[in-house]
Amino acid sequence: NLPKKVKIVEVGPRDGLQNEKENVPAEVKIALVDRLSAAGFPNVEAAAFVSPKWVPQMATSRAVMDGIARRDGVIYSALTPNMQGFEAALAAKADEVVIFGSASEAFSQRNINCSIAESIARFEPVAKAAKDHGVRLRGSISTAFGCPYQGEVPLEAVADVVARMRDLGCDEIDIADTIGVATPRHAQAVMATAIRAFRVDALAGHFHDTYGQALANIYASLELGISIFHSSVAGLGGCPYAKGATGNIATEDVLYMMNGLGIDTGVDLDAVVDAGAYISQFLGRKSSSRAGNALLAK
Ligand code: HMG
Ligand code: MG
Repeated sequence: NLPKKVKIVEVGPRDGLQNEKENVPAEVKIALVDRLSAAGFPNVEAAAFVSPKWVPQMATSRAVMDGIARRDGVIYSALTPNMQGFEAALAAKADEVVIFGSASEAFSQRNINCSIAESIARFEPVAKAAKDHGVRLRGSISTAFGCPYQGEVPLEAVADVVARMRDLGCDEIDIADTIGVATPRHAQAVMATAIRAFRVDALAGHFHDTYGQALANIYASLELGISIFHSSVAGLGGCPYAKGATGNIATEDVLYMMNGLGIDTGVDLDAVVDAGAYISQFLGRKSSSRAGNALLAK
């Protein structure tokens, strides 16, 4: 009994592009976001208000948020690690802010330069400000399935951070496989742990595809009733603080599978293939979406 409807959060403009070495101009990001929102995504992660010294590619976030053609009903999200990020996201009229923590201490230090406990303390005022301003709040939990620095991540650590994100008032919580190491039964064990701590319909699977397991892990999560998944057009991406990490699962591949399963996403696959071709052409490389390339070759 798989969910009949699934929400796909398109994260390509943020997670997909944040790791690009060459600066991608705001105009290109704007054109990409506009193509994606026109394709029917209910939620596009478009920006990250983080330190430009840490992630230079995201320095265009304000210009992107100012330049996009907003569509009614589409949620445009922005990452906000602290109050400085929140203020910037608010000024840029983000519909949703994302506080991002980790289930691994080692990764927390490398990614946001503080411990898990310190990060939660930093998120508290952000969460409160989001509530005060009526902005949706999402919590993202990195390295829930494994960490590039500490290796295994215990289920209790995931349960603990999910509970903390829940207590901060998150509307949605993402369980992220930052380095794409999970396999389906492990994915289910982690998701089942998260489900015990938070509403199943507000949990999201954020799977990077480093080891080619992401689609299998999404299917395994569907079996548990998870109905929100993150993916990146053309499979763009990596994480600057996870060496060797590759992109998120390609959106085209997820949509192809959902369409085959008869699961409604409201997203037009052909339009996403076009958006993938657009950004791949700009970057001068082939899309890493198998379904996207197959459909283009037809
Ligand atoms: P810090 O150095 O500890 O922060 O960094 P600080 O408060 O001491 O500030 C230091 C400097 O950064 C100051 O500037 C601040 O103004 C500036 P200076 O005085 O040196 O010129 N600063 C900021 N600038 C712009 N926007 C801000 C901001 N905050 C401080 N919001 C901090 C802490 C979190 C800021 C830093 O570590 C950082 O920005 N890290 C970036 C983390 C990041 O973006 N990682 C990638 C996204 S997460 C991800 O990809 C995982 C995910 O996809 C899920 C998964 O797959 O796992 C979500
Ligand atoms: Mg990610």
